[in-house]
Amino acid sequence: ERIPEVEALLKQMTLEEKVGQMAQLTLDALTVGANHFHTEEPMRLDMDLVRRALVDYNLGSVLNTASTRARSLEEWHTIVSQIQDVAMNETRLGIPVIYGIDAIHGVTYTAGATFFPQQIGQAATFNPELVRRAAEITAYETRASSLPWNFSPVLDIGRDPRFPRMWETFGEDVYLTNVLGVAMVEGYEGDDIGSPYRVASCPKHFLGYSTPLSGKDRTPALIPEIELRERHIPPFKAAIDAGAHTIMLNSGLINGVPVHASYELITELLKEELGFTGLVVTDWADIDNLHNRDRVASSPKEAVKLAINAGVDMSMIPYTLDFCDYLIELVEEGEVPMSRIDDAVRRILNTKFKLGLFETPVTHYEDYPLFGSDEFIAEAIKTAQESMTLLKNEENILPLSKNSRILVAGPNANSMRALNGGWSYTWQGSNADEFYEGYSTILDAIRDKIGSANVVFREGVRYDNNAAYWVDEAFDIQGAVSAARNVDYIILALGENSYCEKPGDLHDLTLSRNQIDLAKALAETGKPIILVLNQGRPRIIREIEPLVSGIINTYLPGNYGGIAVADVIFGDYNPNGKLPFTYPMYVNTLVTYDHKPSEHQERMAGMYDYESDFAIQFPFGFGLSYTTFEYSNLSVSSDVLRPNGSINISVDVKNSGERQGKEVVQLYTSTHFASITPDVRRLRRFEKIALEPGETKTVSFSIAPEDISFINAQNKRVTEPGAFDVLIDDLKATVHYTE
Ligand code: IFM
Repeated sequence: ERIPEVEALLKQMTLEEKVGQMAQLTLDALTVGANHFHTEEPMRLDMDLVRRALVDYNLGSVLNTASTRARSLEEWHTIVSQIQDVAMNETRLGIPVIYGIDAIHGVTYTAGATFFPQQIGQAATFNPELVRRAAEITAYETRASSLPWNFSPVLDIGRDPRFPRMWETFGEDVYLTNVLGVAMVEGYEGDDIGSPYRVASCPKHFLGYSTPLSGKDRTPALIPEIELRERHIPPFKAAIDAGAHTIMLNSGLINGVPVHASYELITELLKEELGFTGLVVTDWADIDNLHNRDRVASSPKEAVKLAINAGVDMSMIPYTLDFCDYLIELVEEGEVPMSRIDDAVRRILNTKFKLGLFETPVTHYEDYPLFGSDEFIAEAIKTAQESMTLLKNEENILPLSKNSRILVAGPNANSMRALNGGWSYTWQGSNADEFYEGYSTILDAIRDKIGSANVVFREGVRYDNNAAYWVDEAFDIQGAVSAARNVDYIILALGENSYCEKPGDLHDLTLSRNQIDLAKALAETGKPIILVLNQGRPRIIREIEPLVSGIINTYLPGNYGGIAVADVIFGDYNPNGKLPFTYPMYVNTLVTYDHKPSEHQERMAGMYDYESDFAIQFPFGFGLSYTTFEYSNLSVSSDVLRPNGSINISVDVKNSGERQGKEVVQLYTSTHFASITPDVRRLRRFEKIALEPGETKTVSFSIAPEDISFINAQNKRVTEPGAFDVLIDDLKATVHYTE
């Protein structure tokens, strides 16, 4: 894309000025003092370092990963103004810096910002309008903080709950990820990222990051092309088609090849085939990693050559600005073509230009009166409420009466850190009480709802905030058991403490032993237990599920999650979230709903009682309500679908219970036969509707041939002739696709 102003600038730039644009440093490298987060000092720049980076090295970009945060919008304004002043007034060409941040569930690095549920919780709402609105509000508050570039959304698919970044995804389904990913990109970017209320989005991490073989972060993945094209590429394609301006790469290896060194993936696939014209940024230090970790480059300079020639435009954290020196040498030696440098710099400057940074490098916080407003908070509460997923409600034990006497127990009951998860004030999520003043933990919200006199709190097990992030200790299980004797119900909040990336790697997906022990000990009291799961991924609960009467999965619902939990438990809100992943029952039964038929074979009568059943705890798309819904009259406009044609599908949904409720109507298809084994089912459409008691609504969907297409053995997307079932709830109709 050629923008005249950018082209004019490019013509004037020296090689040094160009390569400087391609480097991005962390704010930590430019501030005074090691870590401002833990001090009372405001952030302060070391202006000598700033000048060295910006004037001597022509640095193009800055980021921070939340070890630094501002206590006010004013503080961000000061910091960004000081940086932009040097960039615009002290460098030869006056090019503004582009500042990037991980505002993945709100601009969580500015005090008072609005925190939404993390992506996995947003996925559970199955509500693209809420996701779009959350992104819009986040964009507003991010820009209010003078930060124009958000490293979000994560469009890796969450198909492996062992992966420590599962909670940053929209779950296991490709279609759900496509729809919500587009909603998020559109919410961030709007029609024009030059608007003072929008930011550039950064779908990440291209490509195949979320399914490493070991389940651990940044470990090797083996993903055949057929699977890359079937599931990993579509969400990125949808985001690119929706106009996403930047993309971040996967730090890991696919099939032995580091993505950052792959010309095939970055240039041929992303830029040429998918037509991505925006800016490609590395993940943290990943050019250095080609030498230090991945050993495809025999020197740091060779690593720069590989990555830039593969199609990388900007290097996030070259640990030293030697990156610039190497790149200048490589161009002078003819190892990196000047045309590649021009292409990268054009993509960077185009983004800065479209963001309006040349005109408005810094925003004025006075222009953002809605920052942290009640209006925004109401949206965050609504999103948290819609994410709450009721997984069990034996004999309709829920909602509980507000006159009940309650024991609140468990390590997640009184923790804002656990409610928020990672990328909240700090990279790993913060426990610092000062930031959470005025927000309610689950315990606080329950006390507010039913009065403190009726609530006893005994944690029983607590997290060790100084140890590895999921470590907990049993310190008072007996105390909790004793306290249970005088109550009607136990609300037991279990799960995980916050973590992010590698520190969240797990050896065992099972819920911790201490928490299981606590649940078992409490169950022995005979008091009914409501299990509140507050976790980034589905930790295995097989041993305790039968011991509890109700289960609510809350995911990581953010600062207003406590309120949403109490609303659901005491009936002020009727839950309607649905699981965006399959909840596994065993460590060895990690399957997704869209598996192949052979994943689930019948036991052979009279033969060994072998364990081929995949035994899941709760299925994808599952979630209960306090009302009931009846589906009827599934009808298809034709039982023949033709190329370039479409069929309409409609179904009646009735609220057959006694209270208002929302339902996610889910349409799946199941192909009978195909040239490669079809997945048992695939989600093709969904819509969330609200129904009054007794009300019936007709919901209609349209399906075209491309909606039932798949990648064949030649890695081509095809729709093959043949029959497929349309499935909604328990209803089924069969349609034939005929060429
Ligand atoms: O955006 C993140 C990425 O998801 C993981 N590594 C660091 C980046 C910048 O903070």
